[in-house]
Amino acid sequence: MFRKLIYIVISALLLFSCGGNGDGGKTKLVFKVGKVAGQSGYLAQIVEEFENENPGVDVVLEILPSITDQQHQFYITSLEGGSSDFDVFALDVIWVPEFALAGWLESLEGKFTDEQLANFLPGPLKADTYNGELYAVPWYVDGGVLYYREDLLQKYNVKPPDTFAGLKQAARKIMKGEDNSKLAGFIWQGKQYEGLVCSALEFIEGNCAGILDDGGNPVINSERAIEALAFMKQLIDDGIAPEYVTTTDEEATRHSFGNGNVIFMRNWPYAYNIFNTEGSKVKDKVAVKTMPHFEGCESASTLGGWQLGINKFSKHKDWAWKFIEFMSRYETQKKMALNVGLKPSRKDVYSDEDLVKQQPFMAELLNTLLQAVPRPVSPYYPQISLVLQAKFSEVLSGSSSAEQALNEAQTRLTEIINRRK
Ligand code: GLC
Repeated sequence: MFRKLIYIVISALLLFSCGGNGDGGKTKLVFKVGKVAGQSGYLAQIVEEFENENPGVDVVLEILPSITDQQHQFYITSLEGGSSDFDVFALDVIWVPEFALAGWLESLEGKFTDEQLANFLPGPLKADTYNGELYAVPWYVDGGVLYYREDLLQKYNVKPPDTFAGLKQAARKIMKGEDNSKLAGFIWQGKQYEGLVCSALEFIEGNCAGILDDGGNPVINSERAIEALAFMKQLIDDGIAPEYVTTTDEEATRHSFGNGNVIFMRNWPYAYNIFNTEGSKVKDKVAVKTMPHFEGCESASTLGGWQLGINKFSKHKDWAWKFIEFMSRYETQKKMALNVGLKPSRKDVYSDEDLVKQQPFMAELLNTLLQAVPRPVSPYYPQISLVLQAKFSEVLSGSSSAEQALNEAQTRLTEIINRRK
C-alpha cells in the first residue's frame, strides 16, 4: 500500500516536471519489461543513453515480475482494456501470434530492410511474424543449456556427459564421493509454469519426440515422450534430482547452483555472468555445454527469449520505434551481453572479440540457438501450454504416471487444436 502510494506520488511528480505529453515538455515514453536477473540497474543506464541521444523524450522504465506467466496475465488484462499506459514492451517469444491476432501490436512490417532483418536469428524472427507481417523485433535470445561444476567433474575424472544416462551416472559418482547431503545431482525449472514446459521439452525432443508433429497434430503421448517424462520423474525418485525441483523457477535453480549445492543445472544462458562475478561461490568453477540427449537422438535446446513490440494503443509510436531501433543496434546489444549476460538477437554480435573473450562459449551457443526448438508458434500456444504445465507437473509430483498424464494431455491438445481448425 505504502509502496503504491510512493509510486503514485513519484509518477505524479514526473508527469508534472516533464509537462506530460506535448505542451513544450518532453514526451514520456513508457517501456515495460520483466525483471532481468542480475542486471543491477544496467538497463536504466542503456535507457539513459537513448535519452541523451534524444533530448525530446523521457523514457520511464517500468519493471514487472520476472516470471513470464505473471507478465502474460498483466498484459492480457491491460490490453483487453485498451490501455495506452505503456508504449514499448518486452514480449516472450511465445506471445506474439496471440497478441497480434488480438490486435494489440502495431505492425512493424517494412520498418527494417530485408538486409537488416537477415542479421537477426531466424527462430525468433519467425516467431515474431504473424500472417506474413512482422509484429515485434527480437531483443535477446534464450536457449536451454547445461551448466556443470567443472571443478567437481575434474576431481572425479568425469567427462562432461553427452547423454542423460551419462549425466545420471556422473552425478551419482560425484554425489557419493562428496558425501554432502546438500549436494544435488541435477536440477531444472520444475514448478508448474512455463519454465517446466521449456525444461521438459528438452527431455522430450532429446528423445526424438515432440509436442506436435510437422502437420501441427498433437503427438505428446508418443512412447518416447512418455519415456522422457518418466525418466525425469525417475531422476527425482533415485535422488539425483532433489525433491525441491518440483518447486523451482529460473532464479531458484540459479541460487541453488550459485551456492555451490548442485552439480548439473538446466537453465538459460543469463546465469553464466552472474556465476562469474566477484564474490560468487562458484566463480571460475562453472562450464556450459549443450543439453544431454537420449541414446540415438540429438540434443535439444528450447528456444526462448524476449522481443520488443509497440502497444497498438500507444500515443507515441514514432518514439517507440526509435527506441526499438536503438535497442537493436550492434553496440547496444553488445553492451547488454557484456554487462547483463543477455544473448544478442543479432548474429553479428556473437563473433565480437570482447564478448568471446568474456564468454568463451559464445560460438557454440550461437549454434545451439540457431538449432533451438521453438514451442508451437500459434495464437493458441498459451492454452496448449496450460495443459502441458499441469500434466507434466502431475508426473513429477507423482500424482499421475507419465503414460496417464500424457494420454490426457493428448486428448486436451487435440480438443484445442480441433476447435481452432
Ligand atoms: C525465459 C525465456 C522465455 C521462457 C521463460 C520460461 O524467460 O526467455 O522464452 O518462456 O524463460 O520461464
